Amino acid sequence: MKIYTQDGCLEVGRKAAQLVVAQMICKQKSVLGLATGSTPIAMYEELAEMCEYGDLDFKDITTFNLDEYLGLDKDNEQSYAYFMNTHLFKYINIKKENIHIPSGITKDIKKTCEDYDKAILENGIDLQVLGIGTNGHIGFNEPSDHFEAGTHLVDLDKETIEANARFFESIDEVPRQAISMGIKNIMQAKKVVLIAYGENKIDAIKKMLFGEITPNLPASILQAHGDFTLVIDEEIGDAIKDLLA
Ligand code: F6R
Repeated sequence: MKIYTQDGCLEVGRKAAQLVVAQMICKQKSVLGLATGSTPIAMYEELAEMCEYGDLDFKDITTFNLDEYLGLDKDNEQSYAYFMNTHLFKYINIKKENIHIPSGITKDIKKTCEDYDKAILENGIDLQVLGIGTNGHIGFNEPSDHFEAGTHLVDLDKETIEANARFFESIDEVPRQAISMGIKNIMQAKKVVLIAYGENKIDAIKKMLFGEITPNLPASILQAHGDFTLVIDEEIGDAIKDLLA
């Protein structure tokens, strides 16, 4: 495992963007797994800017997003499809057909999940970018008594609904369910980069790195990934440095 400790959330985003760029330089037809939420916004801004200035080319890049809220279509401002378009896709030269995000308005959830798994398997994710929830979720794999392997329907945790209420007008508007890649989809990525900043992520990061591997803290499975990179800010870095020594 590699750990980069950066000075503030913008630098966390910049380092994560550098790791994505490095992947794209090494393989022109890279397949990227992408996350939403506040954490990767600075990374997307950096990537969008580089593409705008002609320093980065997404024409051969394929993407798979981790998750989408159930019941929200791509034009809904709270959907993750909308988020991705606003923060990255509208600025870059990626082909529409190379963008994959689970449909939040599917009538057949089982088939949507199966098709998503199939597409991920066929393409193979080279680099998966992750954030982490305060409860240790990755994607929307919530704490549970078992790890879900493939793409699946999730009942969102109370903690996740509360944490994500900041993006909605009221907590009542936060969808209660989502479709998420599973743990096997994530673990099969050749490289995983998890980014996190802020005091409220310290506990989850500590448990992820030093706790037991348990579905109760889904990110803990990353201890078993062979190519795992963590990009954190100094606040988290300071909190874990004694444990790393
Ligand atoms: C969303 C996702 C989630 C977020 C996590 C952290 O696609 O994968 O696991 O990464 O909830 O969200 P923020 O970055 O808003 O703290």
